[in-house]
Amino acid sequence: MATKRIIPISSGKGGVGKTTFAINFALALSRHGRTILVDLDTGTSAIRNAINVPIDKDLYHFFRKNEPLSHCLTTLDDRIDPTRQFRNFAFIAGPLHLIDEITNFGPIHKKRLIDAINGLDAEYVVLDMRAGLDTNVIDFLPFSNSGVLIFTPHLPSATLAASDIVKAIIFRKLRLIFSRESPFYETVQGRLDFFRLSNELIDRVEDVYDSSVQNLDFFVLDLSESLGDHPITRAVQQTVEEFRVHYVLNLFNGVEDSFNTAVKPFIDNLTRNVSARVGIANLGWVTKSDAIHRANCNQMPALLMPTEQKKKVDRVAQELEDLRLTAIGLEPSKRRPTNQVPATADPGDHLARQLEVLKTMFAQKKDDDYYANFDYIIQRALFTMQTRRPSEFGDVRIYEPRQMLASLFAKV
Ligand SMILES: Nc1ncnc2c1ncn2[C@@H]1O[C@H](COP(=O)(O)OP(=O)(O)O)[C@@H](O)[C@H]1O
Ligand SMILES: [Mg+2]
Repeated sequence: MATKRIIPISSGKGGVGKTTFAINFALALSRHGRTILVDLDTGTSAIRNAINVPIDKDLYHFFRKNEPLSHCLTTLDDRIDPTRQFRNFAFIAGPLHLIDEITNFGPIHKKRLIDAINGLDAEYVVLDMRAGLDTNVIDFLPFSNSGVLIFTPHLPSATLAASDIVKAIIFRKLRLIFSRESPFYETVQGRLDFFRLSNELIDRVEDVYDSSVQNLDFFVLDLSESLGDHPITRAVQQTVEEFRVHYVLNLFNGVEDSFNTAVKPFIDNLTRNVSARVGIANLGWVTKSDAIHRANCNQMPALLMPTEQKKKVDRVAQELEDLRLTAIGLEPSKRRPTNQVPATADPGDHLARQLEVLKTMFAQKKDDDYYANFDYIIQRALFTMQTRRPSEFGDVRIYEPRQMLASLFAKV
């Protein structure tokens, strides 16, 4: 089996177009390799209601009838995909109705599902996550990046929820690194003291009502002042600096509005409560379009709607421009020497950079329709997967904490 990439799509809150994005993103990806979309928003039947094809088996059969997950795939039929351009796409539907034990599954069900997803035979697995931040969401996410976060202009609670996902993932990783069974302590003297110290500090940073250590950057600063260049300092700093956020703006309606009511509040919240040092990349936008909404209402994914091919004007010039635009804002995160005492990062750098990237994209792509929006997002996602480590975008598997710890400390 070829290595695959598992890419979760999350938003923290419902109603921002997560399912719409996940379906069309998975369809577009399937043109580049076998793709399976999994409905993990198991309480809402959203995906099965958005694609009008007969479903033979779904997660109900996996959980209740012990069917292997690979038997619960649904593919498109000739009626909705007459030209078979999406023959490499399949999805796993949630159950027909809300079934509590499937929606709020416990640890045993969760482990079985994670193992089964890890065993799926596909190049890309796209997860449509549910809203919320409980362990049934977080435990499916990667440890060192956000997957794809979706947010929209004018929905401040959803924008904040998206940055809280980043916070939850980073803190989960820090707690794991500093957990009692972590090999980390084999590298430091006086393990008990450091176990207590690191965990107390993490509690204080994570608690938004405790302003004594505001975010992880101050945490690192504190640590380097009291411990100097210590493995604890380095571990926190590295966790933060290696982290990568990817977001897509849905219901896009122009640079100014999207920036002021979505990107800026997102980055403000992220830098205030988590860190100004994580990498942040905008993968693109999906324009607000009646056609997308109408397609959804007709149980037809928007990318399956027939389109007229637009003529390209100057192909060579266009391709050069496309190449440049594919990579913009996706530069590798800066790695600084770990013995360098960190000055607090300036959140303004992120804001200026994100605005600049958005403006450059907009100058070239403002007239793109939603088909072109998805093409562009896919180009950027593929570029990221081809040029960065797997842990920077999705991951090759869903790691259980134990496996993550082992892999973290295997490389040092
Ligand atoms: N780009 C878009 N343009 C127009 N309507 C959209 C767009 N994206 C989503 N919608 C509409 O917004 C609503 C919520 O979308 P949905 O994908 O179900 O969100 P979520 O999964 O986040 O709850 C749906 O009615 C959908 O048709
Ligand atoms: Mg949904």
